[in-house]
Amino acid sequence: MKNVQVNLDKYSYQVIIEKGILSQVGTLTSEIIKPGKAVVITDTTVGPLYAKIVLDSLSKTNFDVKLVSIEPGEDKKSLSMAGYLYEALFDHKVDRKSTIFALGGGVIGDLTGFVAATFMRGVPFVQIPTTLLSQVDSSVGGKVAVNHPRGKNMIGCFYQPKAVFIDTDTLKTLPKEEMVAGMVEVIKYGVIKDAEFFAYLEKHISQILELDDTALREIVYNSCRNKAKIVEIDEKEEGIRAILNYGHTIGHALETLTSYKKYRHGEAVAIGMIYATKIALSMELANEIVLERQETLLKRLGLSLSDNTVNPHDIVRTLYQDKKTVGGKLRFVLPTAVGTVIISDKSDDATILKSLTSDSISRHL
Ligand SMILES: NC(=O)c1ccc[n+]([C@@H]2O[C@H](COP(=O)([O-])OP(=O)(O)OC[C@H]3O[C@@H](n4cnc5c(N)ncnc54)[C@H](O)[C@@H]3O)[C@@H](O)[C@H]2O)c1
Ligand SMILES: [Zn+2]
Repeated sequence: MKNVQVNLDKYSYQVIIEKGILSQVGTLTSEIIKPGKAVVITDTTVGPLYAKIVLDSLSKTNFDVKLVSIEPGEDKKSLSMAGYLYEALFDHKVDRKSTIFALGGGVIGDLTGFVAATFMRGVPFVQIPTTLLSQVDSSVGGKVAVNHPRGKNMIGCFYQPKAVFIDTDTLKTLPKEEMVAGMVEVIKYGVIKDAEFFAYLEKHISQILELDDTALREIVYNSCRNKAKIVEIDEKEEGIRAILNYGHTIGHALETLTSYKKYRHGEAVAIGMIYATKIALSMELANEIVLERQETLLKRLGLSLSDNTVNPHDIVRTLYQDKKTVGGKLRFVLPTAVGTVIISDKSDDATILKSLTSDSISRHL
């Protein structure tokens, strides 16, 4: 078993990464939480694949467990769905000694976490992430939220899980595009914090794409380890945690301007990482190699690294509207080398536009 400890004083927890761990969820949970009532929240894609094994494991260790399954989809991360889930918790007579499990991707994790944080002012919850993105990113760090018509993740809080159980075997049923989108966040950790891990990814990208067990465990472990280190220093994103937003500034603008329909999150972030690096190049903070190494790796995933549909001026306008400014200035996470980034508010609009127009995007000018 590969473990990552997230040290947050009395809210510390372990991330346990192991192939086949789903059948041990009951035993592992009973080591940290006294068995009692439990609810597993999942979606109708993940449920038929993995719920039985988790429920059996919990029942065997004396949890009185009920399954609640909802339709998949980002639009289910809503206040009305939270309301539906509160009803289910009342029906099952859940109280503050019960445990709520999130079995699924980031949508289920964020929604379930939000419900667990707010029901009776907080019920213990456990993450069992089943997408690559949720295993390497959303299940660790305690950000939970639902969407609001005025913005994604606008209603939420910080609420740490009691444990995170990651079964890398679940990635074998994940659609390829979801795997690729999750890989972008994995590569992100290499760029922002871990040159050695980036080199590992360059060397093992074929094994990763072939879903080799060792490679999967390695990428999930190193991603969680890096994320945990950042979260431990800055749980509430008052400082360094912002480096996790590398590629997300422009990526988010692209998602907004294409109404969340054209790109998966990771696909937009990949483009955002490349543009951020081009900004760093223009500002002479980084050299060409930093750009080339990212481009090569992201291309191996089959990702497109520029957008040719959105007008760059609209991107800049959106960045200003997106509350990405501090004191009226845009802030970017910019790489200075593979493995190191800085947070800078020194990129002027001309530099940003130049970077956005250094490829096919320029035809809109
Ligand atoms: N809390 C955080 O820190 C944080 C960080 C990043 C992203 N997020 C959130 O995560 C969400 C995206 O999560 P996601 O990318 O996991 O998407 P998702 O939860 O929508 O899952 C993608 C699809 O894969 C299916 N699926 C899940 N596991 C599967 C498996 N093992 N086999 C087959 N199909 C499977 C799901 O049913 C769904 O249709 C967004 O809402 C985003 O805001 C949160
Ligand atoms: Zn992201």
